[in-house]
Amino acid sequence: MRSAIENRVSRRKFEKEPIADWEKENIISLINQLNEESGLTMAFMEDGSGAFGKLRKSYGLFTNMRSLILMKGKKDDQDLKEKIGYYGEALVLALTDLGLGTCWVGGTFDKDELPVDSGEELACVIVVGKVAAPSLTEKMVRSATHRKVKSMEERIISDQPFPQWIQNGMKAVLFAPSAKNTQKVMFRYKNDTLSAEIANDYSMDLIDLGIAKKHFEIGAGGKFEFGNGGIFHLT
Ligand SMILES: Cc1cc2nc3c(=O)[nH]c(=O)nc-3n(C[C@H](O)[C@H](O)[C@H](O)COP(=O)(O)O)c2cc1C
Repeated sequence: MRSAIENRVSRRKFEKEPIADWEKENIISLINQLNEESGLTMAFMEDGSGAFGKLRKSYGLFTNMRSLILMKGKKDDQDLKEKIGYYGEALVLALTDLGLGTCWVGGTFDKDELPVDSGEELACVIVVGKVAAPSLTEKMVRSATHRKVKSMEERIISDQPFPQWIQNGMKAVLFAPSAKNTQKVMFRYKNDTLSAEIANDYSMDLIDLGIAKKHFEIGAGGKFEFGNGGIFHLT
């Protein structure tokens, strides 16, 4: 299992020390690569704290929050949200490898404070920063929002015993972040074909779908088609 998958947890408390220049350069170059590959227009914002100052919500307490990544793309991209999840999670895992803390944020920020072009849609942000060992508040938020990890059996419907590569993929899926920790993405293995789907009755669902597909691919080796119900191809 890739270590970043096991090591990553959502971080909501950051050090006062800002991200170093070399880290900034790394983040920007990762974003550029992923934008080129995906057609997304993700962007690093050194100080995005203006979008976090006004809200006081119990879900999502952020401390010393400063830098973030705007998770956006072209409005007319059919797979926009799923791509944001898929490429955004690739970015989150790379940032984890750099030793930085991250948290996907869908709800608890003020969109009007962030720059978005007229042809673009901002689906969510990823906050990023320096982190120390988890604080008590963080542990409390974590236990409140992440009290349960679903079992593999709760995430996959299969008409036959499934092979080792599916086990490997599903193990990585169980570590995936999801909005409100709902872990709603379901996998289906039928007639030797694996697919992934989500109810799509919440604004963050398709982002969760992209994230879960990325984790599965890393665990199993192979590639998913985009789309709700998209099929997996083993390579
Ligand atoms: C699309 C998406 C949106 C999220 N939005 C928020 C948010 O608004 N506030 C927050 O504190 N956490 C948010 N989270 C983080 C989840 O609560 C977290 O991933 C989940 O509880 C699992 O915990 P873990 O990431 O530590 O494994 C979001 C996660 C995802 C994937």
